[in-house]
Amino acid sequence: MPERIYNFSPGPSTLPYPVLQQAAKDILNFNDKGIGLIELSHRSKEFMAVTDEAEALIRENLEVPDNYKVLFLQGGASSQFFMVPMNLLGKGKKATYLNTGTWSNKAIKEAKLFGDIDVAFSSEEAKFNRVPRGEEYTLDPASEYLYFVSNNTIYGTQFQSFPQVEAILVSDMSSDIFSRRIDVSRFGVIFAGAQKNMGPAGVTVVIIREDLLDRVPENVPTMLRYKTHADKGSMFNTPPCFAIYCVGLVMKWLKVTGGIDTMEKLNNQKAAMIYDAIDSTGFYSGHAELESRSKMNISFNLPTPELEAKFIAEATDIGLDGLKGHRSIGGCRASIYNAFPSEGVEALVQFMEHFARANG
Ligand SMILES: Cc1ncc(COP(=O)(O)O)c(C=O)c1O
Repeated sequence: MPERIYNFSPGPSTLPYPVLQQAAKDILNFNDKGIGLIELSHRSKEFMAVTDEAEALIRENLEVPDNYKVLFLQGGASSQFFMVPMNLLGKGKKATYLNTGTWSNKAIKEAKLFGDIDVAFSSEEAKFNRVPRGEEYTLDPASEYLYFVSNNTIYGTQFQSFPQVEAILVSDMSSDIFSRRIDVSRFGVIFAGAQKNMGPAGVTVVIIREDLLDRVPENVPTMLRYKTHADKGSMFNTPPCFAIYCVGLVMKWLKVTGGIDTMEKLNNQKAAMIYDAIDSTGFYSGHAELESRSKMNISFNLPTPELEAKFIAEATDIGLDGLKGHRSIGGCRASIYNAFPSEGVEALVQFMEHFARANG
């Protein structure tokens, strides 16, 4: 393996090296067939097998029940902000949203185009430093669904457990899908852009309970109906072939690495190491409240913006890349998705301790 830097980018983000190696080989010559993977017709039997395998591995890794469809769509996770309400709401229908950051804010804005939206919780005043504590919001019983973002990539907060409500749950899991065990049967729709825990940008995975496919109002365009893609096995039009193929490779890697339970343990350990460094030095301060801390994105501050800039520059110099926080909150952020190696976390922790001693 050539020397690689540690890439703390929030997404697109680091991928397992064996996946990159296999993809590089298959782009040139897929399965020794004398044709590159991205030259294959999406309707060829070779590529159909790639899609089927990717879907089967998603189902296996996440234990997706049989009454759910797994779809490979385009338009990024952001297109789900309108596709969800477009397909599940309609004139006079209601939904409840929990506002825990930039991505839920954007989803709320889109949903308001399609129905009556109740924002039952917001941590905006506290700079989105937490998710709700238990059920500290009221769900309008007329709500068709309750929408929340399971992990807030920018603010570094994460639901440790999911809302216990009667309504159908809809969740944007873009930045923590496959990082921990979840009970899919509690959800109506789960969606996630691939570019963090699943593969490269370009495909969005949607997991939807079959009975919801028929709720779509008449006036929704064909391409924007979940049912269109469900009926055609995500082959209604040309799908994002390369991204789907990579998702399959990442799912295979996840399976041989021990699956979600092993990954969850590793993720807990990796995150604990960084939070310990934050808490023990007294030099760093974490953005998220303790109970809301994310295991995927750790947002933190140093005493001054000048020290933050120095920290990021010195870290970059020693191969710890992508630690600059999102422009909306500044500071630093370490994104440590499934494929991020423990050695990189150790290197960051060592650097944090050294930097605190030298500058504290
Ligand atoms: C939680 C979450 N939702 C949605 C998005 C938007 O994804 P996309 O760029 O695929 O539209 C992101 C991007 O980082 C995200 O972190």
